[in-house]
Amino acid sequence: MRELFRFFPDSASSISDAVDALYLWLTTVSTIMTLLIFLAIGYFAIRYRRREPGEVPAPVLGSLRLEILWSVIPFLVMLSFFTWGTYLYFHSQTSPKGGMEVFITGKQWMWKIQHPSGPREINELHVPIGVPVNLTLASEDVIHSFYVPAFRIKKDVVPGRLNRVWFQATKPGKYHLFCAEYCGTEHSGMIGWVYAMERHEYEQWLSGGGGEGSMATRGEKLFQQYGCASCHTMETAGRCPSVRGLYGRQVLLRGGEQVTADDSYLRESILNPRAKIVAGFEPIMPTFQGQINEESLLQIIAYIKSLGVEGGEEVEATKK
Ligand code: CUA
Repeated sequence: MRELFRFFPDSASSISDAVDALYLWLTTVSTIMTLLIFLAIGYFAIRYRRREPGEVPAPVLGSLRLEILWSVIPFLVMLSFFTWGTYLYFHSQTSPKGGMEVFITGKQWMWKIQHPSGPREINELHVPIGVPVNLTLASEDVIHSFYVPAFRIKKDVVPGRLNRVWFQATKPGKYHLFCAEYCGTEHSGMIGWVYAMERHEYEQWLSGGGGEGSMATRGEKLFQQYGCASCHTMETAGRCPSVRGLYGRQVLLRGGEQVTADDSYLRESILNPRAKIVAGFEPIMPTFQGQINEESLLQIIAYIKSLGVEGGEEVEATKK
C-alpha cells in the first residue's frame, strides 16, 4: 500500500530528510493556520450575527496588548519558514570539501555525463554512496533542469554558464533522474537513472569504464588541436598568459580588477576572450564561440586544472 500511495519519493541523500522535515513543518503550520482562520470566521459570523434590524453593536475599544500578541506570534511562526529555509538552502548549495566531481551536459534531449577519470555515460550516472558528489552543469542548447527527486536536488542547466550543485547519496539504489524544465518536443523523454552504489562496487564499475583516457587527457588533445598549446603553455610569458598553475588563482585584469580563475572564467575566456583581458596582454586571441561544444570545453578546463591548482589542493576525482 505504501508503495502504491506515497507522499514522498525515496529519501536517499544526506539532505532529503531535512528537506522533508521543512516541507512537513510548512504544510502543518499552513494547515493549522488556515483551519484556525476559517473556524474563527465561521464562529464569529454565527455568534455575532445581526439578530434584529437596526441592531447596533456595543462599541469595542480594543486592546494594544492583544493586538501586539496576535501580530507577533504568527510573525515569529512564519519567520521560522524563512530561517529554517535559508539555513537549509545555504547548506544544500555549499558543497563540503573533498568531494568528487562529475560533469554533466544537457542537450536536446539527453544527459551526457563525464567522469574526470574517463568514463562517459548517457542518461545514466553512477556514483558511490557516502561521498559528496559535485556536479558541474552545462547546456548545449536551451534551458534544462537536472532533477533527482530521491536526492531532493534540482538545478537549472542554463546555456552560457556553468551551474553547480552537489549531493551525497546515502542509500544504494536506482533513482529517477528527470529534466524539470520544458525544453522542446521530447522533454518528457529526457529522463535517466542515477545508480548509487557501495564504494567497492563503484570502484569496480569505474575500472571497467573504457580506455578513452581521462577528461584531462582528452582536454590536452583538444588544447593541441585548437592550437592553444603553442601560445598558452610557454614557460616564460610571451604574447599569451600561461595556463600553468592558473586554476584557482587570482588574475589581475586590465583596469585593475581581479577575478578568480575558476571554471566559469576559463570557459568565458575561451569563448569570449575579450570579455576579461589579463593585465599586460593584448586582446589578440580569437574567439572559439560555436567551434567547441560544452563537453569539450569541460575537458579543456579539466586539462588546465590538471596543470596545477593554486595551493596544490587538486581534487583527485575518484579517491578521497
Ligand atoms: Cu531538457 Cu526538459
